[in-house]
Amino acid sequence: MLRSLLVALLLCTPLSLAIHESDVGLIDWHKKLIGVPLAPPVVHYAVMNKTTQRVLLVPTSSNLLAALNATDGSVVWRYVFDDSDGIASFHVNGDVVVALSGAGATMMRSFESLTGFLSFEKRLEAPTIELTGVDVIFEPNTGAMFALNTHLITRVGEVQWTWDAPDKHMPYSKLVHTGAALYAVGVSQHTASLHLAAVNPVTGAQINTAWKHLPPSVSSFVVSGDTVIWVVPATESLGFVHLAPSLRESIRTEKTLKWLAVVDVDLRDKELFVGVLTNGEARVLKVQEGGVLESMHAFPVNDGPQALFAGGLDEAGEPYIARLWTSTPKTISVEIYTPGKEVVKTSLPLNTHKHGTVAHLAIDGLRLVITTSTGAIQAWEKDQLVWGREESLATIDVATFVELPLPERIAHVNLEDESFFSRLIRQIEDTQDFPAYAAAFAERFVTGAPPREEVVVSAHDRTAALARDAFGFKQILVTATAYGSLFGLDTASGAVLWTRVFGLGWAGDGVGGVVKPVKIYVVEGKSESEGKDVVVIAQRRANNKLVDTVVFRIDPLTGASVSPFEENTNGLLEGTDVIQGPLTQAFRIPDSDVIILIDEFFQINLYPDTEASVALIAGLAPNLYLPFIENFSNGPRIVGHGLKLDQNLSDKYLAYRTWGLSLPAGARVKSIVKPRVGPVASLGKVLGNRTTLYKYLNPRMFVVLTEGTEESTSRSSGCGVYVVDGAKGSVLYSATVPVPVQGRAGCDLHATLTENWLVYHYYEGEGERDGETKGWRIVTVELYEGGLDEKTRSSDMSAFSADSMQVEALEQSYVYAHGITAITTTSTKFGITSKDIIVATQNNKIHAIPRRMLNPRRLKDRKPTPEEQQEEQLIPYDVIMPDDPRRTISHTYQVANTRQIITSPALLESTSLVFAYGLDLFLTRVAPSNTFDILNKSFNKAQLVLTVCGLALGIVIAKPMVRRKRLRERWYQ
Ligand SMILES: *[C@@H]1O[C@H](CO)[C@@H](O)[C@H](O)[C@H]1NC(C)=O
Ligand SMILES: *[C@@H]1O[C@H](CO)[C@@H](O)[C@H](O)[C@H]1NC(C)=O
Ligand SMILES: *[C@@H]1O[C@H](CO)[C@@H](O)[C@H](O)[C@H]1NC(C)=O
Repeated sequence: MLRSLLVALLLCTPLSLAIHESDVGLIDWHKKLIGVPLAPPVVHYAVMNKTTQRVLLVPTSSNLLAALNATDGSVVWRYVFDDSDGIASFHVNGDVVVALSGAGATMMRSFESLTGFLSFEKRLEAPTIELTGVDVIFEPNTGAMFALNTHLITRVGEVQWTWDAPDKHMPYSKLVHTGAALYAVGVSQHTASLHLAAVNPVTGAQINTAWKHLPPSVSSFVVSGDTVIWVVPATESLGFVHLAPSLRESIRTEKTLKWLAVVDVDLRDKELFVGVLTNGEARVLKVQEGGVLESMHAFPVNDGPQALFAGGLDEAGEPYIARLWTSTPKTISVEIYTPGKEVVKTSLPLNTHKHGTVAHLAIDGLRLVITTSTGAIQAWEKDQLVWGREESLATIDVATFVELPLPERIAHVNLEDESFFSRLIRQIEDTQDFPAYAAAFAERFVTGAPPREEVVVSAHDRTAALARDAFGFKQILVTATAYGSLFGLDTASGAVLWTRVFGLGWAGDGVGGVVKPVKIYVVEGKSESEGKDVVVIAQRRANNKLVDTVVFRIDPLTGASVSPFEENTNGLLEGTDVIQGPLTQAFRIPDSDVIILIDEFFQINLYPDTEASVALIAGLAPNLYLPFIENFSNGPRIVGHGLKLDQNLSDKYLAYRTWGLSLPAGARVKSIVKPRVGPVASLGKVLGNRTTLYKYLNPRMFVVLTEGTEESTSRSSGCGVYVVDGAKGSVLYSATVPVPVQGRAGCDLHATLTENWLVYHYYEGEGERDGETKGWRIVTVELYEGGLDEKTRSSDMSAFSADSMQVEALEQSYVYAHGITAITTTSTKFGITSKDIIVATQNNKIHAIPRRMLNPRRLKDRKPTPEEQQEEQLIPYDVIMPDDPRRTISHTYQVANTRQIITSPALLESTSLVFAYGLDLFLTRVAPSNTFDILNKSFNKAQLVLTVCGLALGIVIAKPMVRRKRLRERWYQ
């Protein structure tokens, strides 16, 4: 009844509209991220409009260069490099930031440091040998710069020249500009030498080159002023040499103390650097006139592992040097030294179990900026956290939505075990609320105000309790990242509710390693309330190359482990080792909470490993088919597996091969796209003339994407899309599309499958097929059981029935304006609402494409009849899919480098939550068929009430009259 009502409503709703401007920031949120820092941030001062601004410049693992506002940690600007253009180094001077990137680090870009404005791009000459070092320095006053790349020095400015080293076996890694000359310095362990070159900075003429013998153990050096300094590990001494244009100065040594290392703290111009002694002491050193090393300050001996050092200048140009170390037990201590001032000592109350250990240190006056092993960036002032960013969110591997439980009062009633008296008491208690409820109801009814539990959960309402709202818009997003951290995010605001860090289990003590999440599942909670648990399956790769499969099971509301041994949410999340070895595949058994984990020997491990799970699998084993990608010597292939138990071999079920998908020669499997499973509201499509097409609903279908291998990129082999039946490996639908770039392997194919509907997107190069222009295409395919009114009941059919191969495909192709990086469909609670396709485009937008536009029955040769318009909302075919800006659900946000989009139903049938993640995070709500199930805000309830009252009054008045009339009729008949 409800469904037919909803369907009726659906048919009455007009075309779906875009979201309203007033909803921006209310129903959606966007987190602009920069990625995990690769190097210590560089604190940079620049003057803009007469005020000095401080920014932190940092390169990150998401291949971008970012400037953060040092005051509040917000992103001032960022430049995202192309995948093929990896960032190699960056250098700051005045209001210019120069970055080198690309193969051979030959692409030079210059940005304005406070705005990120790209002022020029230049391609430098590429080195002819392997890259060993790049450096850029700036000439004071002229604004010219010198770029060093292995054996080449290029001057960029009004005068341009390139100097090439006469001997390519002496690669350089650092440039030094003194008043007298420009020097290039490098050490090579291979030749056990320090090589130097002196060049005229104006003309580029070579003054001298030289090399000096060093012990082969020297691998690095620092430059302070015009002196090059290094540590000789064998003798624990310091070696140094002064730079002069003749390059004749001889090497001196310092042997009075036992040296472990020298550290560059970016204070070259102040002639300061740090030397670390073998006993854990450290000295701030300065090279004095006459080549004498002077100790300016001694940091006392520290315990624990080697300290981190950072140096910098404050606004007045005063140098600061900080030392940070972690002593046992786990306190992080910092000392900050300023020449002529007292040393400032603090300790940071950083919770390493929530944020990981300190990876990099930068100093900004007395403020410290640290980055951690889990990708956090934090600014500390003394022991106070000023701001923090969680940048591992730019590296989410798996994510899921979790519905919140009902508010506690309702959820805690256990109806079955309740005695008569307790029920009586509860009901009496509940009646207390009745007057308030009645009043609220009356008010709502008359005024049309939304119910108290806010209809529209505002993105900024952080106070709302963690309980389900009336429409299920507030949920929790559980995300696991490549940096071994787990976050609970609030879908209403994007706020981080809790953070956990994966422990390393046995590898935690001294061995080290990484935990890589691979799958995430939501299962019923173990506790009696109706809460859910989240299960994360991860691979732990220890540094000694051992791989284990670990399961973490947590409560999504708090991040607490479900295991009673791990109640402490302040510790690391340790999880349970389930397989001593890598995981081959994981599946969830449909309609259950049992997860099948297949190990490298194809044994089936069950999670949870209980008798009930064993019984379940024993019952289902003959009908379970597990298709997945297996790696063979000639590349990956799709293989179907059945399950069997052979007590002689193992006490576990084994997966054995049942079929292999045969592909054309040269085609190679790229990926599997699993169907998006959800409720199916209707089994067929009713056409305008009252005939029906029955949907082909085979629950075992999945999509395989293939690409041509390099040797076979002839015209015939291209990129393939296959819809395969998982039980037998039979191909139900297949298509081949051309490779994007002729003569080169690699496909850029994206697909999504739901119910009987497949949508894929690809690039069609020029002149590939007759009469086709180049551009992106989107293809929509619907699979039906047969012709009109032909029904085979594909959804319940055995996989081996002959009819299961009877499929009719309707398909149409459209020109689409954008390249995409991710595609999915919306999902709603009952599957009645039509589904939109959601895509993330290469120009950093999220678009929704309505189902109506992708109907493969759009008519090419005639106009749709009124019945067809009414029943199917059929529209004429147009090869171009219009690029309607109203369908950009991300408005003006830049949602950069989206890798994946997930969707989740709300409690309201009309609405679906959409979460896109990649570099940035973006969440919004969409209503593909409009919100037909809530009344419009402008709906006139008063009028409705008046009409109803009027009708009632009419009845009251008319009823006696009618009765009298009837009576009279009987008398006089
Ligand atoms: C600086 O001043 C210029 C014009 O004088 C203005 O366009 C710009 O917005 C200002 N920048 C800031 C950050 O206030
Ligand atoms: C940094 O933030 C502060 C306050 O939050 C603001 O006044 C300043 O202009 C910002 N600086 C830049 C470069 O955006
Ligand atoms: C109904 O419409 C379909 C498609 O438009 C057409 O193929 C079919 O012949 C029609 N059936 C009848 C009975 O008119």
